[in-house]
Amino acid sequence: QVFRLAREASCHVASQIAALIRKRSDENKACVLGLATGSTPVSVYKELVRLHRDEGLSFKNVVTFNLDEYFPMQSNELQSYVRFMNEHLFDHIDIDPANVHIPDGTLAEADVPAFCQRYEEQIVEAGGIDIQILGIGRTGHIGFNEPGSGPNSRTRMITLDRLTRNDAASDFFGEEYVPRRAITMGVGTISDATQIYLLAFGEGKAPVVAQSVEGPITPNIPATYLQEHPDARFILDEAAAEQL
Ligand code: GLP
Repeated sequence: QVFRLAREASCHVASQIAALIRKRSDENKACVLGLATGSTPVSVYKELVRLHRDEGLSFKNVVTFNLDEYFPMQSNELQSYVRFMNEHLFDHIDIDPANVHIPDGTLAEADVPAFCQRYEEQIVEAGGIDIQILGIGRTGHIGFNEPGSGPNSRTRMITLDRLTRNDAASDFFGEEYVPRRAITMGVGTISDATQIYLLAFGEGKAPVVAQSVEGPITPNIPATYLQEHPDARFILDEAAAEQL
């Protein structure tokens, strides 16, 4: 789906999320959201905050699972995804902190596999992800599933691609300070979501968007696996759709 402006696209996605939150709340049920970081989803979170503030949208029945986190990463560091989510969303809404899940970059390395397994169980215990929000990296990664990630991969530690570390360099004030690894939900974890919205804005994303939507399904571009998902949509602005 192509929108003229990124802001219109973001408002569309936010209103879909809000509608499901309200529907589930009327049914006295939880709404489980898979959330992403990066600059792309910021305007979706901004609109959700606005809906909370101006239109009384409550997040009391919302449970969230974030895709990924750098490793190692302390939660108060500038680049931490915990901090990112607090600043852009959680600090401004009425979500129960106990319902928020983000991969833990503060763990000892030996504890990561058990944490990842538990993360998968928590998603299942919550009833599975209803709506998953995704961005896309220039390598074609979703979450931090870099090229080489299989369709059945689960939450795990991965090694970041060179291009991804290069793209993150400005956030870390130099590529040498970008962590070499991250914890990410797997392609399989993401694909279990009922509905997926991948957002991509700007001409920089146009080549990888075209490959992801129209190219052959390949582990070299993990976003191509979304072609096999029954309800995955690419939400684009005109610039990102340019090469389709
Ligand atoms: C990081 C995140 C991804 C995100 C990507 C693109 O690698 N882990 O989830 O999709 O950045 O970021 P941006 O939206 O800033 O282009």
